[in-house]
Amino acid sequence: MSASEVKRTIPILPGATIGIFGGGQLGRMTAMAARGMGYRIQVLDPDPACPARFVVDGCIEAGWDDSREAANLARGCDVVTLEIEQISIASMEAAANFAPVRPGGAMLAIIQDRIEQKDWLRRNGFPIGDYRAVRSLDELRTAIGELGGRCFCKSATGGYDGRGQGKVGFKPGADAEVEARDAWAALGEGAGVAEKAVELEREISVLVARSPAGEVKVYPPAWNHHEEQILAWSVMPAPLSDAMAAEARAIAEAIADTFQLEGILAVELFCTTDGKLLINELAPRPHNSYHASERACATSQFEQLVRAVCCLPLGDVEIVQPAAIANLLGDLWLDAAGATREPHFDAALAVPGVRLHLYEKHRPRRGRKMGHLSAVGKTPEEAVELVLRAKALL
Ligand SMILES: Nc1ncnc2c1ncn2[C@@H]1O[C@H](COP(=O)(O)OP(=O)(O)OP(=O)(O)O)[C@@H](O)[C@H]1O
Ligand SMILES: [Mg+2]
Repeated sequence: MSASEVKRTIPILPGATIGIFGGGQLGRMTAMAARGMGYRIQVLDPDPACPARFVVDGCIEAGWDDSREAANLARGCDVVTLEIEQISIASMEAAANFAPVRPGGAMLAIIQDRIEQKDWLRRNGFPIGDYRAVRSLDELRTAIGELGGRCFCKSATGGYDGRGQGKVGFKPGADAEVEARDAWAALGEGAGVAEKAVELEREISVLVARSPAGEVKVYPPAWNHHEEQILAWSVMPAPLSDAMAAEARAIAEAIADTFQLEGILAVELFCTTDGKLLINELAPRPHNSYHASERACATSQFEQLVRAVCCLPLGDVEIVQPAAIANLLGDLWLDAAGATREPHFDAALAVPGVRLHLYEKHRPRRGRKMGHLSAVGKTPEEAVELVLRAKALL
């Protein structure tokens, strides 16, 4: 082992400071896990009232492309990680001059651009659905035709929770030209991808962790249910055949190895009606669909991220008990007329095994993730039933 390799694999022990690009709910929950282990935490976020603010030692208010402040964050930290993909590569590189940045900028540069990400997956032989990169309305029209008419059109950068996306070919009798123009507008009239719509049996995700020492742990898959392209609920373990679960985990492990990941990575997958697994997208950070790992596994995704970036031994990932989560969107805080209301948390918490997780976001908006409920059960079905029963009482 070379001297630099030895240095890279020295554990960063509790008492050290972890920096996080992004102070949203994922950064907040990572910070809470890190605090529980005795670390200090600094975050960088443009929003001074970001959810992590209330649980960290310090918050630098700066934009994702502010490389000077990114360097300042790293100067005060022993290691830096991220909870959002939007951080600029220049900021990642500026930070890397002062502390290890895990995962690194080279991998993020590929993942943060949907075109680069899909090209990388295809080039490396991973299973993905048919798609075309599009850079003009004309290219989009051609792509829709080639892909058979039913497509998801997505901006190359910046989208989440279905934002920056348009669908074509789903409404019977719709005008194809109008739909193409609307989709082009939805993806922001910039670079994007058109994806053939996949016939879904279900959606799953797999979270993989890899440490700088090369240790890898792959969680059992989660089953994810989306409504209006936003994750509504998720449960671990996903009810899959052993063969399909093993295949999904092998895909995630191979991606982590190919990238030489340092940190955690979520792989969103489609299970198609004809029994295939196709990768939807990658997220090199904690993922909404693994919030249930806090209840289902010995090691939550947040603790695992801390262990991975600090080069500690990775924690066990097998299921201790089935667990489910249901997202709480801002809609729950708004009545039909748009006036604010307080959800009936007391009623929901009366359901056995249910816990409440709120992110301290103070401005509810429709579609905005404000928190989640979690529940455990003897079976995945029971965990889902309990968490949805609790949600219905809100
Ligand atoms: N090609 C496709 N075929 C079928 N369904 C799709 C396709 N692409 C997207 N979807 C549906 O839309 C959802 C959101 O898509 P995607 O994951 O690409 O968007 P996103 O904005 O990055 O979402 P998030 O940030 O919540 O993961 C998917 O989980 C799936 O339900
Ligand atoms: Mg997604």
